[in-house]
Amino acid sequence: MDEQAKKTALRGITYGLYVIGTKVGDDVNAFTGNWVTQTSFTPPLVAIGVKKGTTSYDGILESRVFSVNVLESGQKDLAFAFFKPVSRVGNKFGDIEFYTSTTGSPILKDALSWFECRVVDVNERGDHALVTGEVVDAGVHRTGDPLTLKETGLFYGG
Ligand SMILES: Cc1cc2nc3c(=O)[nH]c(=O)nc-3n(C[C@H](O)[C@H](O)[C@H](O)COP(=O)(O)O)c2cc1C
Repeated sequence: MDEQAKKTALRGITYGLYVIGTKVGDDVNAFTGNWVTQTSFTPPLVAIGVKKGTTSYDGILESRVFSVNVLESGQKDLAFAFFKPVSRVGNKFGDIEFYTSTTGSPILKDALSWFECRVVDVNERGDHALVTGEVVDAGVHRTGDPLTLKETGLFYGG
């Protein structure tokens, strides 16, 4: 295979950028991720790609729940607040306000909208696991254009 072609072609997949909330024991954590897609209407299923060995992945495996916070175009700072591993930087929320609803996963007050899932399947093939969740609750704070990966100038894929 032509490695460069693989990279370029895979980077042709367009993405949003989300803050994915997790429960870790009695605490909460979150990471910024772009590997998020809906995979079924009935039941409503969403799949996320989660890096193995991260605090978030361990939290998802243990709690079997996660939330997805849809950021608004322009909310780059909010996305950047959750890229670094909690193991290195400590609590990432700082003064970023959040609350919890059905699953206990963190919901950012400043996100456009959110949904939260109970994990129904985990496929551990690869360096990231494919985690499928059934959407069990959702909310809308306001309407607007969602943040895209392209807008940040970053890549995660290839
Ligand atoms: C642009 C970008 C997109 C990312 N997308 C994902 C993703 O979809 N899934 C993932 O597991 N990590 C993704 N990451 C990496 C996580 O944000 C990173 O591993 C994070 O530190 C994990 O947090 P934790 O260690 O506190 O659990 C991405 C990083 C960047 C820079």
